[in-house]
This record gives sequence, C-alpha cells and structure tokens, in this order.
Amino acid sequence: MKTKAVSIVLTWIFLVCLVSVFIGCEELTGSKGDDGADGADGADGTALCGTCHSISTEIVAKQAQYQASTHATGGNSERGGSASCAVCHSSEGFRLSIAGEDAVGIDNPTQPNCRTCHNIHTNYDETDYDVVVTGSVEITTSMGDATETVDFGKGSLCASCHRSRPYGYTLAVGGGDYEVTSSRFGPHHGPQGNILAGFGGYEVSGSMSYTNSAHTTMVTEGCTTCHMAAPYGVQAGGHSMKMGYDYHDELVPNTAGCESCHSDIESFDIGDTQTEVEELLEELAALLIEAGIMKEAGGSAVTGTYSSDIAGARMNYQMCLEDRSNGVHNPKYVKALLTNSIEALQ
Ligand code: HEC
Ligand code: HEC
Ligand code: HEC
Ligand code: HEC
Ligand code: HEC
Ligand code: HEC
Repeated sequence: MKTKAVSIVLTWIFLVCLVSVFIGCEELTGSKGDDGADGADGADGTALCGTCHSISTEIVAKQAQYQASTHATGGNSERGGSASCAVCHSSEGFRLSIAGEDAVGIDNPTQPNCRTCHNIHTNYDETDYDVVVTGSVEITTSMGDATETVDFGKGSLCASCHRSRPYGYTLAVGGGDYEVTSSRFGPHHGPQGNILAGFGGYEVSGSMSYTNSAHTTMVTEGCTTCHMAAPYGVQAGGHSMKMGYDYHDELVPNTAGCESCHSDIESFDIGDTQTEVEELLEELAALLIEAGIMKEAGGSAVTGTYSSDIAGARMNYQMCLEDRSNGVHNPKYVKALLTNSIEALQ
C-alpha cells in the first residue's frame, strides 16, 4: 500500500513538472526580451599579419639581400652539430647560448638567418624586428684568459659571434717559453670584434703605443654602420653585409657607410692604411717562417716550443690577417701589433 501511495505522489509531481515546463515554454516564446547590444568588432584575422605581409616589398628585399650574403651561402652550419662550434655556426646554437643554455640537441642546424638576429613571429608587430642583442657584450682574448665588455650598439650582435674564440691557454707578454700544441694556434676566423675594440692582442712593447683609432668609439653602431649601409641591390650593404661587389672583374667598394665621416672617400685605402698593413703582414710572415713557427706553404703553425714573443707574434699575425679588413677596423691598433711584433723578431 505504501509503495502505491508513493508512486501516485511521484506521478503527480511528474505531471505538475511537465505542465510547468510547457507553460514555461510558452512564456519564453511569448515574451522574448530585447537583444543585447552588439559587441565591438574584433580586428580582422589578416590585419595583424598585414603589418608585415602586404604589397610592401620590405620582406622580399631583406630576403633577397640576405640570400646573397655569406651568412646564407657560407655552408659551415654543419658545425652546429658540435656544441663548441654551434654557438656561432648555427642559428639554433646561438639562440640557446644567448638564452644561457647549452648549445646541444640541435637536429636541424641552420646558417645564421632572420630568426638568429630577430624574433620573427613573436609579438606579431614591429618589435619583432628589434635585434636580439644590443648594448654590452663580453669578448675574450684568444687565450681566453681575460674578458672585456664592449658596446657597439647594434654591432654588439655581430661581435657576439665575430670575436676571438677562447682556447684556454695563457700566453703572458714577456713570459717564458711557450709550447704550441696545435697547427691551428691563434685566434679563430673572424676576430673582428676584438680588433674593433682593440683588445686581445699580444701587446709586446715596441716603437708604437697601443691606442685605438676613432672607429672604436665614434662609429656608435659598430659593424652595422659600415656593413649594413644603404644597400646597392643585393650586391653590397643592407642584409648582404658585403663591403663591395665585382663589376667587370674589379671590386667596387661600397663607401655608403663611410661618407658621413669621410666625405671625399674613393677607396677604403684611406691614407694608404690597407697598403701599409698588407706590407706589414708580408714582412711579419717572412720573419715567422724564418723563426720556424709558421709553414711557408699554407701558413699554418708548426707545433713546438718557442719564446713567448715568437708565439705572441704569430698570434698577432693570425689575428690581423683573419680580421680581413687590412687595418680598416682599427688602423692604429693593427699597425701597432704588427710593427711591434716585427721589431720583437728582428
Ligand atoms: C612583424 C612582422 C610580421 C608579422 C606581423 C607577421 N609576419 Fe609572417 N613573416 C615575417 C617575416 C620577416 C617572414 C620571413 C621569415 C624568413 O624569411 O625566414 C615571415 C614569414 C611568414 C611565412 C612563411 C613561412 C615562414 O615561417 O617563414 C608565413 C606562412 C607567415 N609569415 C605567416 C604569417 C601570418 C599568418 C601572420 C599573422 C598571424 C604573420 N605571418 C605575421 C614577418 C611577419
Ligand atoms: C650567429 C653568429 C653570427 C652573427 C650574430 C653574425 N655573424 Fe657574420 N658570420 C658568422 C659566420 C659563422 C660566418 C661565416 C659563414 C659560413 O662560412 O658559413 C659569417 C660571415 C660574415 C661575413 C662574410 C664574410 C665573407 O667571407 O664573405 C660578414 C661580412 C659578416 N658575417 C658580418 C656580420 C655582421 C655585420 C653582423 C651583425 C649585423 C654579423 N655578421 C652577425 C656568424 C655570425
Ligand atoms: C666565437 C664564435 C665562433 C666559434 C665558437 C666557432 N666559430 Fe668558426 N667562424 C666564426 C666566424 C664569425 C666565422 C667567419 C669569419 C669571417 O668570415 O671572417 C667563422 C668561420 C669558420 C670557418 C670558415 C673559414 C673559411 O675560411 O671559410 C670554419 C671552417 C670554421 N669557422 C670552423 C669552426 C669550427 C670547426 C668550430 C668549432 C671547433 C668553430 N668554427 C667555432 C665564429 C666562430
Ligand atoms: C646577422 C644578423 C641579421 C640577419 C641574419 C637578419 N637581420 Fe634583419 N637586421 C639586422 C640588423 C643589425 C638590423 C638593423 C640595421 C640598422 O639599423 O642599420 C636589421 C634590420 C632589419 C629590418 C629593419 C627593421 C627596422 O627597424 O626598420 C628588417 C625588416 C629586417 N632586418 C628583416 C630581416 C629579415 C626578413 C631577415 C631574413 C631574410 C633578416 N632581417 C636577417 C640583423 C640581421
Ligand atoms: C669603419 C667601418 C667598418 C666597421 C665599423 C666594421 N667594418 Fe668590417 N670591414 C670594413 C671594410 C672597409 C672591410 C674591408 C673590405 C675590403 O677591403 O675588401 C671590412 C672587412 C670585413 C670582413 C671581411 C669580409 C668582407 O666583407 O670584406 C668581415 C667578416 C668584417 N669586416 C666584419 C666586421 C664585423 C663583425 C664588425 C664589427 C665587429 C666590423 N666588420 C666593423 C669596414 C668596417
Ligand atoms: C663615425 C665616423 C666614421 C665612419 C663612419 C668611418 N670612419 Fe674612418 N675614420 C674616422 C676618423 C675620425 C678617422 C681619423 C682619426 C683616426 O685615425 O683615428 C678615421 C680614420 C680612418 C682610416 C685611417 C686613415 C689614416 O690616414 O690613418 C681609415 C683607413 C678609415 N678611417 C677608413 C674608413 C672606411 C673605409 C670607412 C667606411 C667603410 C670608415 N672609415 C668609416 C671616422 C669614421
């Protein structure tokens, strides 16, 4: 009996609910409220992208210049497979290193490219084109026994890779004998940051004092002022970073970056600086071959024990040669290193 009474009560409750739902529906359809106000229009999906991807050829131009650069064509990015080389020879290794991480686990190393120097597709606005390193950076001697902080503005980005690679040996001026253990003794390719800063050579005393030319401090954006000056097509300047181009088998210098200071410039060899530095390099090379520390063919180092002045002179030779500007980066420092090294060997 009790169960029957319970089911009757439940049936009634169910019917009451059903009726109230229908009444509710009718009420809903019968007295629909006004629509709320429309929300504000969102930005078009493509407007964000259109900031950069538009009819403008800005990206096209930068890509074309970059494709002509040795950064794109140099072909040494496979060195990204080794952590000690990857920090400068692969985009991935460089980005890991500036984030304070080890340059390891890089499966697809790439040459230095847009994503090495800029944060492409990060904020999706113009700030993505800011360069990832500016202001103060540390460079070391080729020995790796001392560091110096330099500030080349946007050029500090370049000097993060274009600097002496520390080898971890100590070669003190006027120290005792020194053992050269590798035929690659000396700074790595590209110690331009050190030369521009006037830091890291074997500063043996001699007739010239060690000072820097005006370029060290007056060229406030460093490397970029001269190498990324107004582009000449894709041959020079801009993102090609080249200082000149071939025209009918002759090298035409791109002087656009020099003109703000050297208004009447015709060649890079102002005041015969490059001619003089080339002569000093030749003279020093002959003395190093004579001292037995340098091979005549190919110019690599001969392993063995030498006085620190001979080893230091060899290091200076390598540093000024691999700088590859024949003195332009820092005329005074380069001339002093070479002249005093020559005197020490005579
Ligand atoms: C701040 C500028 C900027 C904005 C904003 C931007 N891009 Fe890009 N985008 C670039 C640059 C620069 C490249 C070329 C990168 C290269 O050559 O490696 C590129 C390349 C690309 C590529 C080619 C593939 C690649 O990744 O290289 C695609 C696809 C692309 N963008 C889509 C988009 C879309 C979709 C948006 C909007 C959601 C967008 N981009 C917004 C600058 C921008
Ligand atoms: C991530 C490291 C890295 C950065 C940053 C970098 N470079 Fe380089 N650069 C290299 C490497 C590595 C090469 C040689 C490429 C190769 O052989 O694969 C090179 C090559 C060059 C060359 C060509 C030399 C030749 O033989 O033609 C120039 C010029 C140059 N860099 C200038 C610059 C300037 C200017 C900047 C700054 C705007 C800069 N680099 C930033 C690593 C870097
Ligand atoms: C501190 C940064 C740095 C490190 C670390 C580094 N390199 Fe380089 N390397 C450079 C730069 C910059 C250049 C290009 C210099 C130039 O063109 O003047 C270069 C050029 C080269 C070249 C091209 C030389 C030529 O004449 O074309 C080779 C090969 C090379 N490096 C091998 C290596 C190897 C192997 C390692 C690791 C054992 C290594 N590099 C580590 C910065 C570095
Ligand atoms: C080796 C480093 C490096 C690489 C690689 C590189 N850039 Fe740059 N980029 C710079 C530097 C440095 C500047 C600033 C130049 C100046 O102010 O004189 C710059 C400037 C720019 C600007 C102008 C930004 C502004 O504020 O007006 C754009 C756009 C740009 N780069 C796009 C690219 C694209 C696209 C690529 C790849 C195709 C690329 N960059 C590759 C270093 C680099
Ligand atoms: C005052 C202008 C100036 C500055 C600043 C400058 N360079 Fe140069 N650079 C030159 C000139 C000029 C040459 C020699 C070109 C020649 O004689 O063929 C050169 C040569 C080079 C070369 C050899 C390959 C080439 O393009 O001829 C590299 C690599 C290089 N510079 C990188 C750098 C780096 C990295 C910095 C910054 C640390 C820098 N330069 C700063 C003017 C400059
Ligand atoms: C921001 C200004 C500035 C820029 C840009 C600049 N220079 Fe200079 N440069 C100077 C000054 C000032 C001197 C003279 C003082 C000195 O020797 O220290 C000088 C000296 C030199 C010297 C030595 C001349 C001598 O008689 O001893 C050479 C070579 C040189 N510059 C080449 C260049 C080249 C090539 C460029 C462009 C690729 C360039 N400079 C860009 C300011 C500049």
